[in-house]
Amino acid sequence: MDRKVRIGIIGCGGIADAHANRYKKREREYGDVEIVALCDIAPHRAEGFGRIKDLPNARCYENHIEMLEKEDLDGVSVCTYNREHARCTIDALKHGVNVVCEKPMSVTLEEAVAMCKAEKESGKILSVGFQPRFASDMKQMKEIVRSGELGKVYYIQTGGGRRRGIPGYTFIEDSTAGIGAVGDIGCYSLDMVLDALNYPKPLTVTAFVSDYFGKNPNQYNEADRFSVDDFAAAFIRLEGGIVIDFRIAWAMNVDTPGDTIILGTEGGLRIPSDDCWNGDFKDDMTMYKTINGENIEYKIERMPADKKPHCWDGKIGSFVEAIKNGGPSPIPSSQILINQAIIDAMIKSAKLGKEVEVVIPEI
Ligand SMILES: NC(=O)c1ccc[n+]([C@@H]2O[C@H](COP(=O)([O-])OP(=O)(O)OC[C@H]3O[C@@H](n4cnc5c(N)ncnc54)[C@H](O)[C@@H]3O)[C@@H](O)[C@H]2O)c1
Repeated sequence: MDRKVRIGIIGCGGIADAHANRYKKREREYGDVEIVALCDIAPHRAEGFGRIKDLPNARCYENHIEMLEKEDLDGVSVCTYNREHARCTIDALKHGVNVVCEKPMSVTLEEAVAMCKAEKESGKILSVGFQPRFASDMKQMKEIVRSGELGKVYYIQTGGGRRRGIPGYTFIEDSTAGIGAVGDIGCYSLDMVLDALNYPKPLTVTAFVSDYFGKNPNQYNEADRFSVDDFAAAFIRLEGGIVIDFRIAWAMNVDTPGDTIILGTEGGLRIPSDDCWNGDFKDDMTMYKTINGENIEYKIERMPADKKPHCWDGKIGSFVEAIKNGGPSPIPSSQILINQAIIDAMIKSAKLGKEVEVVIPEI
């Protein structure tokens, strides 16, 4: 490209801050990107954001279509609450603009399918914002699983969460978030293990979803607004004879729902439970093997903290690079569609009270 990559941000709330910081850092270090437009439906929020982030030249809008029509953009960061991800992403792609969309990809599978179709028709790229993929601990785990060292992987226990940690703001209402813990942090746990396995297709899901803490005014001070889930557990069958035993919580009466465990025929890997959204593990992974009849286990050394690259640099930098190179998408929608299909199936299974088949339409 013979000019800087021109970026617009749609949704100037909490996470837009991290996007703006990384674009600005990239501009300082590489000089190949600039934020030229900001948009938020809340009156004057885009202007306020521009002032705080010191973006005096960014033009401000309250309607993303108007921004897409008036600006000559190469890419947008979709940083709205979940319910608006699909609409803003599809509109940007239809205007020929590349998109990095925040996680979860959408609320429903239907929305995710529509986003993938819009991407295909536009010839532009859609990347979904899973920054942990760019963290060194996460990359190391993926390399181990993909190396075949574990043999045939057949069982995974994964998930995460906190004893008390229901977010507030736009995360807890159906009209804005659409889904609760299962989408907000569940999507990260799923991406961690599914990406390591190269995203096998899901076959069936049976799930349980609850809202015992969010809806209880003695447990949560915004219970009157709470209309999503705060806990989910699921059993997910994948093609290739792999099962995932999954649980996720914004609130529960225990400190952790357990480590991630990946069982293969030749070895087992334990990944200490942690906030999987930053990509750093709390402690070293442990490998379990049997060699010459002897059971052995050993820790796997990780990159020292001061040497680790920041995963947000990877998330934003990879998007800018992909725009400059004309693709491919760094975190492909074709993979995250599967992630979203599983979340969608969890919600459906929990509502029906039985196992559901996962059917992902052709794009
Ligand atoms: N990657 C991460 O680490 C991470 C962390 C937090 C949140 N998130 C995700 O980022 C998204 C936003 O979270 P947040 O904390 O910034 O929420 P937020 O409520 O603080 O911000 C969302 C903003 O989007 C605006 N908005 C909604 N619809 C819009 C539209 N059509 N056009 C323009 N603006 C619109 C709202 O007015 C609001 O200002 C969520 O999907 C969340 O899951 C990701």
